Amino acid sequence: MKVAVSFLSMKEDLETTLKKIDESSADYIHCDMMDGIFVPNTTYTVAEYKKMFKNINKKLDVHMMCCSPNKYVKEFAKMNNVEYLTLHYEAHRRPIDVINMIKHTPLKVGLAINPETKVSHIVPLLRSLDQVLVMSVKPGKGGQEFIKDILYKIETLKELREENNYHYIISVDGGINDKTAKLVKDAGADMVVSGSYVVKNDDYEKQIESIR
Ligand code: DX5
Ligand code: ZN
Repeated sequence: MKVAVSFLSMKEDLETTLKKIDESSADYIHCDMMDGIFVPNTTYTVAEYKKMFKNINKKLDVHMMCCSPNKYVKEFAKMNNVEYLTLHYEAHRRPIDVINMIKHTPLKVGLAINPETKVSHIVPLLRSLDQVLVMSVKPGKGGQEFIKDILYKIETLKELREENNYHYIISVDGGINDKTAKLVKDAGADMVVSGSYVVKNDDYEKQIESIR
């Protein structure tokens, strides 16, 4: 299973944390962006992210927890290390418009769903996606407890992909540790996002290996 590491709950300074993730075996750096509207907290701006990742080698898995995600697409597309750009289904009146906008850039497109959002809502969009990000906590902050009720969504998404020959990866974000990663893997996920469990420890590599 692939692992994307989120650094929001870091215990060391930003520079040290990013360098440690960059030197680890993590597949991606998961980059959370919050606007203070879609979720109460705010993080960095795209310009700040651009600067922050200038000397980073890892690919980025960007998770926009923002209203009007269309506003950020152009700027993220200019950064050369972004692989996935993910918007929230709940954050835009016509998510398909933003999906199409991202599809016109070299970036891969992801769609995130909150714990209370059902897979049935996004079925018409699945054919267009490179990633479905299943939230296993309420978006907005790190360090929350994993919500087990979302596990069936992973199974449903896997079945729908097989039945229809879709190509998205299934990624799960929130409350991932060695135990919850096992549940998610057994349900069929391809990738997990892990924050606190990795970056609140000294030995990132040991933590990453325990969730693969
Ligand atoms: C939650 C963020 C997550 C979070 C993960 O709103 O989208 O990416 O930082 O952190 P942990 O693993 O601590 O739940
Ligand atoms: Zn995230």
